[in-house]
Order: sequence, then structure tokens, then C-alpha cells
Amino acid sequence: MTRTLTLIYSTSTGHTEFVVDTLTLSLSKLIPDLRIVKQRAEMSTGEDLRKANLLLLACGSWNTNNVEGQLQPHMHELLMVRAADSELKGIPAAAIGLGDERYHFTARAAERLTEYLTGRQATLLLPTLKIINDPYDQTAKIEAWTKEFANAISKLPS
Ligand SMILES: Cc1cc2nc3c(=O)[nH]c(=O)nc-3n(C[C@H](O)[C@H](O)[C@H](O)COP(=O)(O)O)c2cc1C
Repeated sequence: MTRTLTLIYSTSTGHTEFVVDTLTLSLSKLIPDLRIVKQRAEMSTGEDLRKANLLLLACGSWNTNNVEGQLQPHMHELLMVRAADSELKGIPAAAIGLGDERYHFTARAAERLTEYLTGRQATLLLPTLKIINDPYDQTAKIEAWTKEFANAISKLPS
């Protein structure tokens, strides 16, 4: 059976898009028969999260509602409003949070995404990837995490 990864992300400057595109390229080489459905948070619903059989969430940290260390506004709107009550019990999942060291609450999106997943009883497959500052010279870190992610996916029961 072909497994499907639902990858939901949001981005303002393209940083998160770069990270998920780097991951997608590497993951599709590591698990060629994995189907990857990449979609923007602003186009996603609670149902997309609930029906996923493998889930990856990714976004940057933002001063949403004038408070630093929050989720990027589109991801905030999805997870804290539209999908606030989604039950994700047992869904294998992972997360990627970005941020910038110039902010006191650096890359807090990583914690917020992790808390969202564990708080709704998803099964976290590995520690959340944190990308601090521009991601463009951090390809090796993204690829190393992708390898661990692929490893965890390959151990899931079919
Ligand atoms: C208005 C604004 C608020 C931000 N707030 C934070 C923050 O609270 N903490 C943090 O670590 N980074 C913060 N950042 C930095 C972004 O999270 C970082 O640049 C990230 O790579 C952006 O990813 P994206 O372009 O994919 O959304 C902020 C950036 C902007 C422009």
C-alpha cells in the first residue's frame, strides 16, 4: 500500500517553503513510493489533519496578535481556530519550526507545533526540527533530519 504524507505548511518569506522543498526532494529519494501531498495551511481544514495517516506540520515563528513566539498567522489560524478541536489520536506525526535568533522567543513555533500534536494525541515520530535564521545554508541539517524521519516512517506498520 502506498503511504501518503500530508505536509501542511505556511510561509511568509519563503523560508519554510525552502525547508519543506529540501525535505521533500530528499524524502522522495529515500522512500520512492511515498506519496507526498504538500498544502498551504491557509488552504487546509481540520478534516485534512484528522484524515491524515502521516502528518508533517511546518512554519515559522511570528508575533501573531502582537505577541512574539507564536505560529505564523496562517498556521495560527488553522491550528488555533479552524482545527482547534481536531482529534489526532495515534496519527504518526512530526513538525518543523523556524525562527530567528534576533527574537527573544527564538523559534518558539517548534514548541507550539509539538504541543499541538502531542496535545491531540498524535504520535510524535522524532524530535521537532528547529531551523534558526536563514535556512539556505542549512541543507545538511535538513537532510540529516529527513533521514531520521524516513527511518521512523519505514518502521511504521503498513
Ligand atoms: C513580523 C515578524 C515576526 C517574527 N517573530 C518571530 C518570533 O517571535 N520568534 C522568532 O524566532 N522569529 C520570528 N520571526 C522570524 C521568522 O520566524 C523567520 O524569519 C522565519 O524563517 C520565517 O519563515 P517563513 O518566511 O517561512 O514564514 C519573525 C519575523 C517577522 C517578519
